[in-house]
Amino acid sequence: NPRKVRVKRSSLTLFNDTFLRACRLEQTKTVPVWFMRQAGRYDADYRAIRERYSLVEICEHPEVAVEVTKMPVDKLGVDAAILFSDIMIPVGAMGLPFEIRENVGPVIASPIRHERDVERLQVFDAQEKLPHVLETIRLLSNELSVPLIGFMGAPFTLASYMVEGGPSRDYLQTKQMMVSRPDLWQQLMDKLADMIIRYGREQVEAGAKALQVFDSWVGSLAPGDFVRYVKPTMQRIFEGLKPLSVPLIYFGVNTGELLGEFAATGASVVGVDWRVPLARARERVGGGVALQGNFDPAMLFAPRSEMERRALEILKQGAKDPGFVFNLGHGVKPTTDIDALKFLVDVVHAFDPLAG
Ligand code: CP3
Repeated sequence: NPRKVRVKRSSLTLFNDTFLRACRLEQTKTVPVWFMRQAGRYDADYRAIRERYSLVEICEHPEVAVEVTKMPVDKLGVDAAILFSDIMIPVGAMGLPFEIRENVGPVIASPIRHERDVERLQVFDAQEKLPHVLETIRLLSNELSVPLIGFMGAPFTLASYMVEGGPSRDYLQTKQMMVSRPDLWQQLMDKLADMIIRYGREQVEAGAKALQVFDSWVGSLAPGDFVRYVKPTMQRIFEGLKPLSVPLIYFGVNTGELLGEFAATGASVVGVDWRVPLARARERVGGGVALQGNFDPAMLFAPRSEMERRALEILKQGAKDPGFVFNLGHGVKPTTDIDALKFLVDVVHAFDPLAG
């Protein structure tokens, strides 16, 4: 049917704001979908670029970062793009050198242990220290037909790398600083919060249409410790970002027990991982915030019929209230088949949230 094809083409040139509208709790005709780590090693074209540039080098070359950011939008048909960068890029700009080691993660040779280490951290001006990131955002906001999500790591998750010196299972050094030196811990949280608010503002001024704050590892805290040692900082961050009038997404893994507290930080969208049924997540966050999640990334390796069944289960629960963004509960695994991701996008887009 040639007529149908023409309609579809012309609609592609329009700006697709479904993602932003769902974040603002508006009813949408389809459920928006994007994937954490949607630009990455599962894609052969990304791997080819990584043979020529390191991850940090991609971030330092706006034309390459733009290309990588756009790949999943063109190939998968997702409803949002996420800036290609890393949560550690601003940590380097604060004056703490890091390295990203393949299949390990961020490594810091001289971790933060003392007052002087915290004092030395600079709350930088991105125009001065990370001009290439802002340039990437400016270029993307002119070229994309979907909203661009800017992002930052949250203070706890950044601190976990900065204090441990690398990835950790139990965050012993981090938690030790938190409870033995609450004054120093708060200084570190405050400095990171100042950086996050300033960097977030600069990303939005450059053209980011939403911000996601990644607190991947905060689910390692007992709820009482989250409330005491992290929540006030998160409230200050979302209070500081609120005047930007863009959706503010707060995401973490293993945060089932914290979801009510997440909603009370002032974020407008709360990320949910697959360990919590979406209906239960909704009970915990109450009304007034949107939800994002929560397909298990391991289930992209399941047979198609099983993937579809699980996606529909999520969609039906998500569609009960306005304000749902389909995503994975965590990032795309590097060995994922790109066709499984395409299939999942199609299943989400075929679902009618009004019919249920
Ligand atoms: O597509 C996107 O999601 C945008 C780009 C993005 C990256 N990192 C690029 C990247 C985003 C949003 C991040 C955030 C990030 N970085 C988080 C929070 C989200 C999460 O996954 O929990 C964290 C904890 C980091 C720190 C980090 N950087 C880790 C743990 C790793 C993986 C190390 C490995 O080799 O497995 C990285 C490296 C990294 N950052 C990759 C990508 C695409 C891996 C691929 C590569 O080396 O090219």
